[in-house]
Amino acid sequence: MRLKTLSLTLLACLGASGAAQAASSTSSDPVADSPAIEHRVDAMLDKLTLAQKVDLIGGEDNMFIRAEPAIGLPRLRMSDGPFGVRSVGTSTAYMAGVGLAASWDPALARRVGEAMGRDARARGVNFLLGPGANIHRAPQNGRNMEYYSEDPFLAGSMAVGFIDGIQSQGVVATIKHFVANNSEYDRRHLDTLIDERTLREIYLPAFEMAVKDAHVGAVMSSYNLVNGDYLSENHAISHDILKQDWGFKGIFMSDWGAAHDGVKAFDAGLDLEMPSAEAMSPQRLLPLLKDGKLSQDVLNDKVRRILRTAVRFGFLDRPQQDLSIPLFNLDNDAVALQSAREGLVLLKNAHHVLPLDASKIRTIAVIGPNAFPAISSAGGSSHVDTFEAQSVLTGITHQLGDKVRVLYSRGLPSPDEVFKQSSFVSPTGGKGLLRQTFANADFQGKPGTTSTDEHVDQWKPELWTTPATQRQSIRWSGSFVPAHSGKYLFLTAAASLDTYRLLVDGNPVITQPQREGQAPLYVTLDLVAGKPVSIRLDYKPDVSYSRMGLGVIALDDLISPDARKMAAMADAAVVAVGFDPTSESEAFDRTFQLPWGQEALIEAVAAVNKKTIVTVNSGDAYATDGWLDQVPALLQSWYPGQEGGRAIAEVLFGAHTPEGKLPVSFDREWKDNPTHDFYDAPPHPAGTNPTVKYGEGVFLGYRWYTTYPHKPQPLFAFGYGLSYTTFSFSKLSVSPAVAKVGDTITVSFDVSNTGSRDGAEVAQVYVGDPSARVARPARELKAFRKVRLKPGQTKHVSLTLDRRAFAYYDVGKHGWQVDPGRFTIYVGDASNHTPLATDLTMGKTR
Ligand code: BGC
Repeated sequence: MRLKTLSLTLLACLGASGAAQAASSTSSDPVADSPAIEHRVDAMLDKLTLAQKVDLIGGEDNMFIRAEPAIGLPRLRMSDGPFGVRSVGTSTAYMAGVGLAASWDPALARRVGEAMGRDARARGVNFLLGPGANIHRAPQNGRNMEYYSEDPFLAGSMAVGFIDGIQSQGVVATIKHFVANNSEYDRRHLDTLIDERTLREIYLPAFEMAVKDAHVGAVMSSYNLVNGDYLSENHAISHDILKQDWGFKGIFMSDWGAAHDGVKAFDAGLDLEMPSAEAMSPQRLLPLLKDGKLSQDVLNDKVRRILRTAVRFGFLDRPQQDLSIPLFNLDNDAVALQSAREGLVLLKNAHHVLPLDASKIRTIAVIGPNAFPAISSAGGSSHVDTFEAQSVLTGITHQLGDKVRVLYSRGLPSPDEVFKQSSFVSPTGGKGLLRQTFANADFQGKPGTTSTDEHVDQWKPELWTTPATQRQSIRWSGSFVPAHSGKYLFLTAAASLDTYRLLVDGNPVITQPQREGQAPLYVTLDLVAGKPVSIRLDYKPDVSYSRMGLGVIALDDLISPDARKMAAMADAAVVAVGFDPTSESEAFDRTFQLPWGQEALIEAVAAVNKKTIVTVNSGDAYATDGWLDQVPALLQSWYPGQEGGRAIAEVLFGAHTPEGKLPVSFDREWKDNPTHDFYDAPPHPAGTNPTVKYGEGVFLGYRWYTTYPHKPQPLFAFGYGLSYTTFSFSKLSVSPAVAKVGDTITVSFDVSNTGSRDGAEVAQVYVGDPSARVARPARELKAFRKVRLKPGQTKHVSLTLDRRAFAYYDVGKHGWQVDPGRFTIYVGDASNHTPLATDLTMGKTR
């Protein structure tokens, strides 16, 4: 049986509702495991020496599994992932994972997977390093955009669709990062302490669905530890759960440099160390294997997994690169556009300000740092370089043609402009800051060189660089003289593992600790006209050159006067703000607040234009207090891929009715988030790992908010999103009405379009289990279906709930438990808005 067919059948049985919207099969589908394949694998294995086998379990040249000519195994190429084939030059960028999940459309995820599979085949890629299926736990996680949702069922359903799509093209999908990698700060050291039930109910299921339902070919470990063991060495998780419990037959690979103790990793189930054999090196493993201290059977199992995957996916029988597939691909561009369209979420639309009527608008102002160039993807290994990408500015301009005048201003200076515009006074009274460079890491002794820098403007937002062998430290000193009294922005930026500290009048005001990556930092200080403040910046680069930027600018001078004038002249203004690859990325966390200056920009535009629409790029929620009340509309655009600008323009002007729904809760304030007290690792003794206890347990996101309605509620709930039309739900029925534990329950209802435009609604089915013996969230998402409806049209929806939909994880029995009793089935369009509800009683017997 073709694997894809099997997975779709399973999905239907499992009631993975929306996920089971089939797409057609193609000839490259991987072949399911069979005795013939195992026979072929055994024959290959027999031909390999011990040394050849050990060689196979470590990668090479950053992105390859080694070739083994003795058995006809070609070199196998990998590429990031997860929303574009990034590692082989320029490619198509699709909507980021969180935005794809906002479509609540696993069939779309499948189409994106298929398109990306074709992009991979065009470039000779065997393994695509995606999808990312970690759970959104807190908005600051720098990698949230790569991950789908705070809800495991939605995340798993999207992952299954995406994996099916990729693998249907003869490309191995690699689900990552297994598991509980829910923050980026100190990701290589953080030990996450999670109880068994929480791990099973929240953090594992998306991976479990990928393994059991989509037969994902590879799983990538995360960098962090869980309950004391790195994931590359975590026997209890990667061996006992992934391989034994779930029956995973593919390759479990390390994240890049995530393996530490080679022997422990070898025994715990790591099959492939990437990007090369450092921990599981031949020098370390071969003597132990020869002495019998490590098992050759275990080694054979790892090699078998690599060979089995290569055979199943046809890598031994056809060239992986298909030169007939265009690299710049219009079919895939259309998929990218659809992924952007379906993922945009309209969060606010007061007085129906949207859609804008192009026939009534003569001038529109497009303002903001994220208006141009396009912010199609964020930072880190998921960033995709595109052939061309539509920005908000170009998207709107193309959409309107010559009917409307589109005025554009960045609105805020770029960091480089701030650095270059800032003027300092050196200790000798000249222009600039005194620069002292020390030939050691700690400003010891006399500086080796001394000079004056008019500006500190060498910022290069690099992420991964080679550390300098010869350490140096650089100190800038001097003063800044404010031209007028008021608030001033102090902006600093360096890169990767650089550290620095800025002192103003002797007080440390900004400190950048050593981190794998970093975003620009800022502070606002009140200064008095003509009264100099002393500046000292102590910078320790990780590389042999400076990447430091320092700027001081009056807040009053921050917003471009042109932007204010354009906003005042225009009939409507679009302010495009949010994060970008330098401020939201793999390897570091971001702020809850929008980046510097953006709130002031929104307020400045809103002050002169009543029709101000804000679009935000981000991977999760952000602070809105102070500005959201001042604008009538907010459109969440995530990282929308190369066609984002076009999709945004279509939504703003009504060519497309928004249909995205939040796959995460948008907290009103960070302190309302249930993980607030459990997110940052407390101080820890030197030489030990920082630890974080997931104290909120299973009560994450909407599970928390719906269970504790008297606590502060989210600004925008999980599942929420506006449309230009309206929908209603009716006629809920559940069968069988008298059920017994283990029955598959069918939930049926009608969804109607009661408005005057075509539109799509996402029907969401939540289950509550008030009579369980353990405390359970008031509601949990267990099925959903996206329904497209014409005005006045009604569709009947039937979804099934299997045993697991009613179960919790029983830590006493180490298994899934359904307690007989009363359950409530809720149906609606958001986690906090379920107009239909009915009770269902499940007995031990019927
Ligand atoms: C990331 C992975 C990525 C790998 C290869 C690592 O830093 O965590 O997600 O696939 O690099 O680029």
